[in-house]
Amino acid sequence: MNDSNQDNLFAHPLGVVPDFVFDQAVVDVFPDMIKRSVPGYETILAHCGELASRYVQADSHCYDLGCSLGASTVAMRSRIEGRNAKIIAVDNSSAMLDKCATVLASVPSAVNTDLVNQDICDTVINNASMVVMNFTLQFVPMAQRVPLLKKIYAGLNPGGCLVISEKLYFEPPSLNTLLGDLHHQFKRAQGYSDLEISQKRDSIENVLIPETLDAHIQRLRACGFQSASPWFQCFNFCSLVAIK
Ligand SMILES: C[S@@+](CC[C@H](N)C(=O)[O-])C[C@H]1O[C@@H](n2cnc3c(N)ncnc32)[C@H](O)[C@@H]1O
Repeated sequence: MNDSNQDNLFAHPLGVVPDFVFDQAVVDVFPDMIKRSVPGYETILAHCGELASRYVQADSHCYDLGCSLGASTVAMRSRIEGRNAKIIAVDNSSAMLDKCATVLASVPSAVNTDLVNQDICDTVINNASMVVMNFTLQFVPMAQRVPLLKKIYAGLNPGGCLVISEKLYFEPPSLNTLLGDLHHQFKRAQGYSDLEISQKRDSIENVLIPETLDAHIQRLRACGFQSASPWFQCFNFCSLVAIK
């Protein structure tokens, strides 16, 4: 098993396609899956490092909510050594966190890092100067999104930042179809077949609930953030930064 394992989870006809879960089979191919499925993923990660270098305050906490294998944690901690900041990386998939521990051990860092197996809706956020939710809020039930964002706002120090990366929904539906098609074309160019694309879509559509960019911005404002803006978008994938 290694990080170059190719994602072929949806390559063969599945009959009834099960709802997507972050289980061991997904963990085993996750780096390949996310890189070939999310346009701009590596750019977003690199700029999480850049934002960390600008926003992470001395003696504060950084949170990586829905950390998976720790890619955002690795990006942040490479840019914040010497500040006595601590990273708290949280995920509710124990298979993800087990592998994450191995990944983090293979990229040594002086930055203190805690791995927490927990629902991010239960995570206590305090003394935070940076919170990252890269492609995680979209999996949180709708009713829990406002309380989660309010909790993050309350736990951020003044001047701290929240980074949220998400798949977006567009209106009118014709625009959503166009941007979805462009995303599928991206996946074809990454080597996914039409069968893989359509079975993955069926698997994830009841699990990943995307919202419009306007809905994200308005909710961030309603939760207290005075400034919130997208800083990256490619097709129907976007990353936003919000400052307290
Ligand atoms: C698409 S992956 C995130 C990718 C990761 N942030 C990165 O940049 O590589 C979503 C992750 O969020 C986790 N997750 C989803 N809902 C969660 C919740 N309510 N609490 C904790 N983790 C959650 C999943 O287990 C999964 O590992």
